[in-house]
Amino acid sequence: MNLDLACKQLFLENRRYKRKFQYTVPSPTTYPYQWLWDSCFHIIILNHFNVEYAKKEVLSLLSQQFENGMIPHMIYWDDFTETSFPHIKWGKNGTSTLTQPPMVAYAVWTVYQKDKDLNFIKSIYPKLFHYYRYLLTERDPHENHLIGIMNPDESGEDNSPRFDIPLGLPAQHTLKENTKKRFELIKQNIKCKFDAPFCMRNFFWVKDAPFNSIMVENLKLLSKIALVIGNRDDALYFNQKADEISSAMRKLMLEDGIFWSTYGENGSYKKIKVKTWAVFAPLFAQIASKAEAKNLVDDYLLNPKEFQTKFPVPTTSLSEPSFDPEGFWRGPIWMGTNWFIYKGLINYGFLKEAKTIKEASVALLQKSGFREYFNPLTGEGLGAENFTWGGLIVDMV
Ligand code: GLC
Repeated sequence: MNLDLACKQLFLENRRYKRKFQYTVPSPTTYPYQWLWDSCFHIIILNHFNVEYAKKEVLSLLSQQFENGMIPHMIYWDDFTETSFPHIKWGKNGTSTLTQPPMVAYAVWTVYQKDKDLNFIKSIYPKLFHYYRYLLTERDPHENHLIGIMNPDESGEDNSPRFDIPLGLPAQHTLKENTKKRFELIKQNIKCKFDAPFCMRNFFWVKDAPFNSIMVENLKLLSKIALVIGNRDDALYFNQKADEISSAMRKLMLEDGIFWSTYGENGSYKKIKVKTWAVFAPLFAQIASKAEAKNLVDDYLLNPKEFQTKFPVPTTSLSEPSFDPEGFWRGPIWMGTNWFIYKGLINYGFLKEAKTIKEASVALLQKSGFREYFNPLTGEGLGAENFTWGGLIVDMV
């Protein structure tokens, strides 16, 4: 299969037109709406083919921003019906009431790199400002410089074993049990009207290592965007916030060479010592030192007892009791996480290791097609079909 062509074709087929808006569905059958971090991946991929499509996707994603600045992680457009999957009551029509990893500034920066359209970034900058200010204030109400999530789904890794302890679940449980817990959280959040500080304090207070790493990298790029449009004060401010989050991650998450996600009410920062691909996430934002990065590569990425599988990189370490090669976010490879790890390795000059991940990703697509996730032991394709994230291989450069 010619992957470049197949990818272009997939993106044409998954493109949707709604009123003046355009966006891409992650999978026509399983995921027929617009999702936040998926759209950011789409923008990054579309830039390689058609920057105008990428810009349209930015505009549709930003169009449903809440008054408080939050960008919802799902936009149903007018496709939502009571019977359509997933049937979730969010307490709001048309969108969800959660967000997802804040990849928006990164995606917008890739657009700007492509065509240097200053007017475009000027026109959307207020929305970006508002979104990141929301995360910096509402999700960090005590100014401890770590950004909180109020539901595992906000991490993008719905049933990752990182969230078992905060959800009160054992390492082994069914997807049904997991989903039930996450739906209970949504119900509680509706009751407290999605007042983030209140919801987090009372129900689910997690500072996730990938979410915060992604925030750091995005704040740095938002700072660049601010500078390009001539807003020096904002540029300094966002850069400073990126530094503060990096330092807080070092202070509150780092132990034995790993940046662990934490949970617990403000001030307690209990570390969730479950090894998932998240151990590599700080490389994406260059938060780890060179020596720490080398240890992560030697001790974990290339360790056959941890993350070195026939097809890398599993989302959960083989050494975890929760590891399940077919268990959604509990073991399978996802192209999005492979892309983050790839970029992180390049940042530190691990070119050979990065190349191995790219080659494995290409081999998986050749073997199993554009599937949602893949068994790391056999390479078998699992979950949704015609799933867009495989397109990220065009950006593994
Ligand atoms: C699944 C994934 C999530 C993604 C969504 C749409 O819920 O866990 O990360 O955004 O599907 O593709």
